Amino acid sequence: MKPTLKYRGLIEELRGEGGFAYIARGRELMRKGFRVVNLSIGQPDVPTPENVIDSAVYWLKEKKYTAYTETAGIPELREAIAEYLNTRYGSDVKPSEVVVTPGTKGAIFLALAAYLEPGDEIIVPEPSYPAYPEGARIIGGVPRYIPLKFEGPDKGFSLDLSLIEENITSRTKMIAVNNPHNPTGEVFSPKQLDELMDIARRKNVMILADEIYDNFIYDNKPFKSLISYPDWRDYVVYTNGFSKTFSMTGWRLGYLVVREEVARHLSKLAVNMWGCPVSFAQKAAIDALRDEETWKWVRELSRRYSETRRLLYDLVKDVPGVEASLPSGAYYLFPRITGLLEATGMSVEELVDYIIDNHHLIILPGTAFPDKAGRDYVRFSFATNREEIVEGAKRFKEAVEELLASREHK
Ligand SMILES: Cc1ncc(COP(=O)(O)O)c(C=O)c1O
Repeated sequence: MKPTLKYRGLIEELRGEGGFAYIARGRELMRKGFRVVNLSIGQPDVPTPENVIDSAVYWLKEKKYTAYTETAGIPELREAIAEYLNTRYGSDVKPSEVVVTPGTKGAIFLALAAYLEPGDEIIVPEPSYPAYPEGARIIGGVPRYIPLKFEGPDKGFSLDLSLIEENITSRTKMIAVNNPHNPTGEVFSPKQLDELMDIARRKNVMILADEIYDNFIYDNKPFKSLISYPDWRDYVVYTNGFSKTFSMTGWRLGYLVVREEVARHLSKLAVNMWGCPVSFAQKAAIDALRDEETWKWVRELSRRYSETRRLLYDLVKDVPGVEASLPSGAYYLFPRITGLLEATGMSVEELVDYIIDNHHLIILPGTAFPDKAGRDYVRFSFATNREEIVEGAKRFKEAVEELLASREHK
């Protein structure tokens, strides 16, 4: 082979994001004219609030705000983010500790790049959003997966803290904790987070705290932000963003919070990678955070998803072979389907393929997150309306009944 045709093996091995791949399959089916129900999607079913769109249009059209900005974000936005976090979580974040990034993924990548030397390990409780392990691999880090504990349909999932601590080696630099959690919909208890912080203190490891779903917490489930610990600067690199809360996924705007010295160095990394976040999106993001109208919109969205969550759970929990726990956060239901896989002799990917191909319902196999711990689970998103939930659950049930019946006939 010509040497120039040889590329780095990792770019071939790297895993993509299941969500994106399956959404593409849904689009393909729609192009063929099928009525597709998409319960795979990790974004609200409604566009960005009107006042935020108006603000972006104003900054573009009236102010021609189209040039490069400061790499770490415009000062007013860094201020607004610090103020928002401090008001909400009683923290003491300074604007100089905030780095605005293109999407929360940009923030996650910066967080990984700030701490992982080649060969360093990052503990990833699994199932997990794929950007932590895959981002780590890009920069030579080594993910070490530790399964979450499924405590059963009544109790949901928890962090296996003793297993996490046992797996910390001299190479471990970070633990990636997403809370509320994608894909399980779990909100980890404040007690577990206190214990996790104690592990970080005892073992001197950083925590990558991704709290992107913190505006989607249901039934008043207690939530403790990792930015609220007085000693967060020594142990936490925090990420969050605008995508999920304000339905701004396509605007590509997130942020990272880390102690000032690291934030300063990360600006150099960011300037070499993307220069700056999108100019007019940053201006509109200030309104997203500061305008009470946006928060009314967010509260209403969260209330609506609390309802679609319960509806989906009620419709899916009694399907044969399915054990679901009612999620308390994010917008995902992650039922265990061991019984169903055993009865049909299928793998979770085969099951999902069957459902997509024959019933045009898009859900995700648990193995999209991103390794083996999800092999007995599927992920449904309830970030949609009641009609889609009802239709999706109906299709799921029909697919399962069909599969079980065809099995019985064999
Ligand atoms: C846990 C988690 N973190 C980060 C992201 C990425 O967010 P963004 O679109 O802001 O990059 C997602 C998106 O699905 C997510 O689920």
